[in-house]
Amino acid sequence: MTEWTKSSWRAKERIQMPDYPDQDALARVEAQLSRYPLLVFAGEARRLKKHLGAAGRGEAFLLQGGDCAESFEQFSSDLIRDTFKVMLQMAIVLTHGAKVPVIKLGRMAGQFAKPRSANMESINGVELPSYRGDIINELDFTPEARIPDPEKMLRAYTQAAATLNLIRAFSTGGYADVHQVHGWTLGFTDGEKAAKYREIANRISDTLDFMAAAGVTSETAHTLQSVEFYTSHESLLLEYEEALTRLDSTSGQWLAGSGHMIWIGDRTRQPDGAHVEFARGVQNPIGLKCGPTMEPDDLKRLMATLNPENEEGRLTLIARFGAGSVGDHLPRLIKTVREEGANVVWTCDAMHGNTIKSSTGYKTRPFDSVLREVREFFGVHAAEGTIPAGVHFEMTGADVTECTGGVRAVSEEDLSDRYHTACDPRLNASQSLELAFLVAEELSARRENVAAKAAS
Ligand code: PEP
Ligand code: CO
Repeated sequence: MTEWTKSSWRAKERIQMPDYPDQDALARVEAQLSRYPLLVFAGEARRLKKHLGAAGRGEAFLLQGGDCAESFEQFSSDLIRDTFKVMLQMAIVLTHGAKVPVIKLGRMAGQFAKPRSANMESINGVELPSYRGDIINELDFTPEARIPDPEKMLRAYTQAAATLNLIRAFSTGGYADVHQVHGWTLGFTDGEKAAKYREIANRISDTLDFMAAAGVTSETAHTLQSVEFYTSHESLLLEYEEALTRLDSTSGQWLAGSGHMIWIGDRTRQPDGAHVEFARGVQNPIGLKCGPTMEPDDLKRLMATLNPENEEGRLTLIARFGAGSVGDHLPRLIKTVREEGANVVWTCDAMHGNTIKSSTGYKTRPFDSVLREVREFFGVHAAEGTIPAGVHFEMTGADVTECTGGVRAVSEEDLSDRYHTACDPRLNASQSLELAFLVAEELSARRENVAAKAAS
C-alpha cells in the first residue's frame, strides 16, 4: 500500500463530493480551517475506541443516534438539548435491558454532508443539481442555491463547535443527572398510551431507590450526575476532514479532529476509493456502513485496509439491510469476519433499509419495520453465536411527524404536519424512547436465554 498522508485521498477517484466552481475560494477556506482548533481531542477518540472495543466483546452497548442531516436553518439550543435529552433517556432504558454501560454517540456536531443516489433532481420538468447537505449547497430548488459554496464549511465548523460546547456543558453540568433523566422517562410512561412500559420504568426507579438507600447518590457517585457523550458523522466532504486532521503528539498518529468517530457511507466504501483512503490513516474509531451489496471479498479488503492491526474498537460495522432482508445478507458477512478472525463491533442501522414512499407522497419509515430490523439483527447474531453490539437510529428530540407508527401513532396523513427533515425521516422523541423500551425488552429476553442455556 502506498504511503498515507492526510491528502493522499486526492489521488483517488472523487465521488459524492462537489466540484467547486471557485477553486480559489476553496483554497482560502481550507487554509483558514486548517488553522482552526480541533473540535475533539485524541485522548477522547482513544477512549471511545476503548469503549467500542468493550462493546465488541459484549461488555458495553452502543447507542448511535441523531439527525440524518444537521441543518443551518433549524440550528437551535432547544433542538440540541432535546436530542441530547432523549438519547440519555434511551441510554438509561437500554442500560437496564443490556446490563452493561451504554455508549452514547450522537450523529451531531458535524453531520452535514450527504451522499445522494442521483446527481440531479427534477421537479416539474426543471432539473437542478441535487442538494448535498448544508455544508455544500442549499435545499431551495433554485440554480443559485444548488451551487456548491466552500464558505459553508466555515459555518458548519462554527455550528459544530457551538453544538459541542453545549453538549459538553450538559454532560457535566448537572443536566445529565440520572435521577432527572429518569424523571422525564416516568413522565412519558405516565401517559395512558405508554402504560405498557411502566413496569420497566418502575424497575429502574426501584434500582435508583435501592442505590440511594445504600448511599450511592449523585453526591457520592460522580458517574450518576455526568455522562460521556461522543460525536460522529459521515466523513464525506474530504476537504473539510483533511483541514481538521492533525498530528497528535502524544501518540504520533493522525487524528480526524472533526468528530470522535467518523464513518464511511454505503455509497462511498469502494476499497480503492478516496473515502477509504482518508479513513485508513487516522486513529479515530471508524464506522463502515454495510448494505445489501456488500460482498465478502469487499469486506475482507476493507477490514484489512481499515484495521490492519486488528485493533479492538477500531472498526464498527453498521449493518443496514432493511426489515425482512437481514437474514439474506448478515450471515455471509459474519462468516467473513469469523474466517478472518477480525475484531469488529456489529451494530444495526435500522433506518436506511426501511425508507418507503407513503401514500401521501412523503419519504417515511414505519416504526414497526425499524423494530423488526433490530429484532432480525439480534436473531441472526443469536443463531451465529456472535455479539450484537449496538443500534443506530436517525432521530430527533423534536416532536416531528416523519416516521409512521408508535404508541402516539403518526399516520401517513399526519406526515405533512411537522415534516422538517432536510434529508431522511427521523424518529421523534416519543418514538425513539419507545423503541429503546422495546429494544431493552429484547436485550433482557436474550440475556435470560443465554443464562438459561448456560445453566442447563
Ligand atoms: C446516512 O447514514 O444518513 C446514510 C446516508 O447512510 P448509508 O450510507 O447507510 O445509506
Ligand atoms: Co440518512
